[in-house]
This record gives sequence, C-alpha cells and structure tokens, in this order.
Amino acid sequence: MQSDSRPVIAVLGGSGKEGSGLAFRWAHAGYPVIIGSRTAEKAEQAAKEINDALGRPAARGLDNPAAAAAATIVVLTVPFAAQRKTVEEVRPALTGKILIDVTVPLVPPKVSRVQLPGGRSAVEAIQELLGPEVKVVSAFQNISAHHLKDLDYVIECEVLVCSDDRATGDLVVGMAKEIGLRAWVEGTYRGRVYSQAAAVPSQPLAIVFGAGYWPSGRLSDALADRMEAAIALYEAGTVNKLLLTGDNRFADYNEPAAMAAYAEERGVPREDLVLDYAGRRTYDSCYRARAIFGVERAVLVTQDFHLPRALYTCDRLGLEVVGLAADRQAYVRAAWYDLREVMALARAWLDLELLTPEPVLGDPIPVDWSRRSDQVP
Ligand SMILES: NC(=O)c1ccc[n+]([C@@H]2O[C@H](COP(=O)([O-])OP(=O)(O)OC[C@H]3O[C@@H](n4cnc5c(N)ncnc54)[C@H](OP(=O)(O)O)[C@@H]3O)[C@@H](O)[C@H]2O)c1
Repeated sequence: MQSDSRPVIAVLGGSGKEGSGLAFRWAHAGYPVIIGSRTAEKAEQAAKEINDALGRPAARGLDNPAAAAAATIVVLTVPFAAQRKTVEEVRPALTGKILIDVTVPLVPPKVSRVQLPGGRSAVEAIQELLGPEVKVVSAFQNISAHHLKDLDYVIECEVLVCSDDRATGDLVVGMAKEIGLRAWVEGTYRGRVYSQAAAVPSQPLAIVFGAGYWPSGRLSDALADRMEAAIALYEAGTVNKLLLTGDNRFADYNEPAAMAAYAEERGVPREDLVLDYAGRRTYDSCYRARAIFGVERAVLVTQDFHLPRALYTCDRLGLEVVGLAADRQAYVRAAWYDLREVMALARAWLDLELLTPEPVLGDPIPVDWSRRSDQVP
C-alpha cells in the first residue's frame, strides 16, 4: 500500500491507550503517522513501539505542537480535562486542517457519567473555539482501546462520525473503514441524491463521468449503468443535453467518444451530446464543466459510492447540483472502488481546501444548455 498519496495523521496523546491503538491501526493501513506528546522523547518511544510491531518505519514522534504542524489531519486523544488546553497549545498549527476529537467528556471521580460542557457537546465547544478555519469532527469515542492493537480482532462496533461538513465526514468514515471499523456520517446531501431518474427535478444538463471501457469499445458495467441512467433523464425530458466527460490522454483511448457512441446507439441525437475530452478525474471534470462549458446547474450521474465526492467537488467549485445514483447491479470491482474512493476523497479534500490546482484548460466552448436540439429557439 502506498502511503505517499495519503494525508499525514498526527495523534496528540498518541502515547496513551486510545491514541496509540488508533495510531497503530492507521500506520498499519499505510498512513504516515506522527505521535504527539507533551514530551518529544515519550512520543519517539511510542512511535518506536509501533515501528517495532510493524517491522517498518511507519510512525515518528514529536511534541504536540510540532506534530500538529506536520500533519493534515490531527486526532485528539487526551483526557477530557486536558482537551481544551491541548487544543489551545496547538491552535496556530490547525488552520485549514481537520481535527478529529476522540475525547469523551468524563470528569473524575464520576467517570461513568458524561458531563457535557455548558449543556452542549464537547466537540461543539472546540469548534466554537477554533472557528470555521478548522473542520472539527467528533468520532471514535465508542471504540475501546482494548483491542485496537490486535489486528486480527474484529471490532463489532459502529463509529458515528459527526461533522458539519459532509466531505470531511466522509473522509473520516474512510479512515475508519481502513482500520476495520464500520462507520457512518450524518449526511448533509440528504434530499439531493436520487435513486430514480423519474424523481430528479428538471436541470439543463446531466454530467456523466467516465468509468472505463474495453478495447472492443464496450463500456465497463459501471459506465454503461451511468449512461443508461443519463439516457433515462434525457428521454424523460428532465435534461436537455448530456455532458460526457472522460479521459482522452492517449490517441487510442477516448472515453467520451465511447460514451457518445453508446448514447447515439440508444437514440440520443449527437447534437445533444457535449464531449469533454480532458475530464481525467472528477475535480477536472467539474472544474472544466464550469470554466469551459459554462455549466451552472446540473444532475451528476455516477454510482452511489462516488456521489459524495462529486457533489462536494461541485459545491466547492460553485456549481448547483443534485445527484442521480446509477447503481443497477452489484459491481465485481466494488471493493476496489470503495478503497480507491477513500484515497480519492482525501486527494479531493486537499485539492479543494488547500491546493486548488488548475486542470488542463482552454478557450471557453459556449453551449446553449437551455434547450435540446429539436426545440426551436
Ligand atoms: N481508553 C479508551 O478505551 C477510550 C475509548 C474511547 C475514547 N477514549 C477517550 O480518549 C481520550 C484518551 O483516553 P486514554 O484512555 O488513551 O487516556 P490516557 O492513556 O490516560 O491518556 C492519553 C494521553 O494523554 C496525555 N495526557 C494525559 N494527561 C494529560 C494532561 N493533563 N495534559 C495533557 N495531556 C495529557 C498523555 O500523553 P503525554 O504524556 O505523552 O503527553 C497520555 O498518554 C480520553 O478523552 C478518553 O475519554 C478512550
């Protein structure tokens, strides 16, 4: 497993029971991990224990502020009494990052009773302290430290991820799944994702994302399902045109053309198909939809696993979108899609929140999305 495409995770209090267990599992899953401690020596010792157990240099140790500064995702696993103080100490290093708060507001001596600060959740208080520059997420409170270091132990527990930001929540869900935990996030996309074409409200166009085809020209199962869902939208009159976006980096690989051939064969007029040959990844497709093709509103057509990232990307790039889940079967490569999606979501988060790279661009291509080819102006 490559770790260089993954965000660096710093676990503050990672010398303790819960933090060392989570850090161990993330290091094992391939994340670059930093143990944070009040003393660098203690952190180095905890990191060494992880590296010795894994037999490779997967973790290193730093004091808490340095650990937070060197990471993209910071996990807080200190006793509740030290939660606010620790956050204040590392605060300057948290801007633009994700803070996952694992602390449980238990105050000794009554450690069996949760004591909410000022009648609200402990994580809300931290989010208020840090402001919108830091995405604070609450998760893993119900995961006992007890079995985390036993990789063969199946932890039968659901992780509830609480986040104001759906993409950040999805990212943390992915991090939980990668260490063998089932996790869920309260979704802010509810009401914007449809499973039936007939239920989708009218939009000027549907954006269909490429998903591979065979040398014979036959579309992958996932892509054929996306095309069928998009054609259903077109036939129902829900959309005027289809924007087919995919990869055409090589002369003998032309995803948008393969998609267009499929749509034409199913009766969609060529004039209502717009092809984007530089949609190499979701970020590029969404960026170019707006920058090159002047798209402002659209239905995104893709499988359910990909919709959160596609919706999040468009939201951040200023497009007004809803999603149609194109799933029509159990996909042979579903496990691979899920795994890849975790990494892709991490990359999307970096691109949209920190890097905002410019994809391959060019002159704008004006398209009249307001009507279909058989409608008279
Ligand atoms: N243990 C569990 O099963 C479990 C499960 C779910 C959630 N949690 C939550 O996770 C958090 C950590 O639990 P834990 O059992 O891992 O605790 P822990 O082992 O007692 O402490 C974790 C680390 O916090 C740091 N720490 C301790 N006292 C501190 C203080 N006064 N100021 C700053 N840092 C201090 C220490 O690191 P350094 O000395 O290296 O700085 C320590 O190794 C708690 O909020 C707990 O409620 C625990």
